Amino acid sequence: MNKKIAILNGDGIGPEVTAQSIKILKAIAAQYNHEFTFHEALIGADAIDKTGSALPEETIDTCLDSDAVLFGAVGHPKYDNDPSAKVRPEQGILGIRKALQLFANIRPITTYPSLQHLSPLKAKQLEGVDCIIFRELTGGIYFGKKQTSEDGTYASDECSYSKEEIERIAHLAFQYAQKRKKKVTMVDKANVLDTSRLWRKTVQAIALQYGDVTVDYMFVDNAAMQLILNPKQFDVILTENMFGDIISDEASVLSGSLGMLPSASVGNGTALFEPIHGSYPQAAGKDIANPLGSILSAAMMLDHFGLTEEAKVIRDAADWTLQNNFVTKDIDPVNFYFTSTIGDLIADYVSGKIPGSVKKENIELRKSTII
Ligand code: IPM
Ligand code: MN
Repeated sequence: MNKKIAILNGDGIGPEVTAQSIKILKAIAAQYNHEFTFHEALIGADAIDKTGSALPEETIDTCLDSDAVLFGAVGHPKYDNDPSAKVRPEQGILGIRKALQLFANIRPITTYPSLQHLSPLKAKQLEGVDCIIFRELTGGIYFGKKQTSEDGTYASDECSYSKEEIERIAHLAFQYAQKRKKKVTMVDKANVLDTSRLWRKTVQAIALQYGDVTVDYMFVDNAAMQLILNPKQFDVILTENMFGDIISDEASVLSGSLGMLPSASVGNGTALFEPIHGSYPQAAGKDIANPLGSILSAAMMLDHFGLTEEAKVIRDAADWTLQNNFVTKDIDPVNFYFTSTIGDLIADYVSGKIPGSVKKENIELRKSTII
């Protein structure tokens, strides 16, 4: 299979985690006879520094001309602390989501037995947790009209949704649920917001077309609590843009580290794959960030291409590193391996070089980066 992949490294740890995914995708291409070509383009603070814009036209063109986009992260502290900045790195990711019409952001929440001790929740609550968040990504308060009065003492952000915007992601969520535990939980604030009432009405109508899927409706404040109290109850969570942003960070604590979680953003054309973690500027350039969020996003990309066997071998490799304690500093602050070492191990695994013929001791001798 021939695929053109746009690479948007972005800021902070973006370039170093994305480099691991590229290494692994190259190993997959060699092993399974595919041809992947990679095309870098600028985004975020990096793009602002070099071009003045967080999302240069050229970047949009490169993405539109590719089969998929692998995205790193955007964000820089110099903008976080300056609310008056007119150009912001986040405009890069928001802009590319809009330009590619990526209306659904899919965030699987997986728990790993070997990481349960990292979660603030008790092991008993984490067993069997396996849910997936479908977050609407191109509408709602993120993209509504924004205003600040001349004198700077008043501001507003509009939240709006159309029936069509709700329907297209709802269908995806229901179809996904049919392949899983057949349950959709719609999260909204229908006791207060008109947009949420439209979501509920629209989803109730769509649910009739999916008789085999159970649906329940939950207010977002309750859902935030239920995710911690009893996360096992969830299968597919369907929600609007802002609620999805908030609850997906909350749900990440179930897996033990935000650094582990991948996501896929899909629309009608080119899809984009990105870890849900941010640019983590404190770790940038230190080779200590967890690359699994990006690597598992690359696996989601392969699934999207229909390369399910290739995607599975990457997930197996990631599981293997966790089971054998080849982990980054976020997971084991004392005996940790570098970002690039985890990338090398997973690339070797998908190339069939490990675990078969090589013992753990040998890997440690060859790759050990323990500090
Ligand atoms: C995310 C991020 C973005 C968002 C930011 C960087 C604009 O938090 O992908 O969840 O809010 O969507
Ligand atoms: Mn977020």
